[in-house]
Amino acid sequence: MHTVILKQVSKTYHLDSVGVPALCDINLAIRPNCFTVISGPSGSGKTTLLNLIGCIDRPDQGEVIVAGQSIRSLSDDALSDFRAHHLGFIFQNFNLLPVLTAYENVEYPLLLAKLAAAQRRERVLALLDAVGLADKANHRPGQLSGGQRQRVAIARALAPAPQLVLADEPTANLDSQTGAAIIALMRQMQRQHHVSFVFSSHDPQVQAEADDAVFIRDGRITHVERNTDLVEAGA
Ligand SMILES: Nc1ncnc2c1ncn2[C@@H]1O[C@H](COP(=O)(O)OP(=O)(O)OP(=O)(O)O)[C@@H](O)[C@H]1O
Ligand SMILES: [Mg+2]
Repeated sequence: MHTVILKQVSKTYHLDSVGVPALCDINLAIRPNCFTVISGPSGSGKTTLLNLIGCIDRPDQGEVIVAGQSIRSLSDDALSDFRAHHLGFIFQNFNLLPVLTAYENVEYPLLLAKLAAAQRRERVLALLDAVGLADKANHRPGQLSGGQRQRVAIARALAPAPQLVLADEPTANLDSQTGAAIIALMRQMQRQHHVSFVFSSHDPQVQAEADDAVFIRDGRITHVERNTDLVEAGA
């Protein structure tokens, strides 16, 4: 089963009385346990597409199916519940809560998931360790570097054991070396946690490393490159 299926999806924004078409007739299947990158020029619709896949927004037309669930049939409340249980998010500007420590930021989605205290602690410490921040658990975001903040964000995204993690330009605010390390960590976490990652990036190196690369221009998918070595390796 595909992690995400988009069928004839279109999205137009409305500014005053003017329609701004952002996505047009998108058909896309995201494979499970894969590292999928979305690439395209500025304004091509990457963020709009990620917002639809992440159930942050709804399409005007077409169908979005995530983890087997058709989004159309869910109320707004049911949709936020669905997001909290099945999806993880990593943002360009890290979006950590500034008054919380690294530990508390990673713990936060688990409080919503109502996990028992001992299990929660074990999971948060394991995730901080996995992203290389075991010794920074008590630091607040303001006391961490950009790369370290993004590591906290990766741990937070994985905390509720989602099926799918979405990241919009996760390396845009990092230097290229730190950005490459973050992509490598995302890849490692994607494999270890058997989760699908879908993220946007301009970096051709990242496109080569991904299982699938989806290219978009003017709101339409122009082509999809599937890394056949990885496909044959059992994805
Ligand atoms: N809230 C909005 N209201 C109106 N138009 C919007 C809105 N958000 C995006 N758009 C328009 O929709 C199109 C797609 O925007 P989107 O943000 O998805 O592009 P993008 O590929 O993520 O670009 P970038 O690489 O600059 O982040 C653009 O023409 C943009 O101006
Ligand atoms: Mg964008």
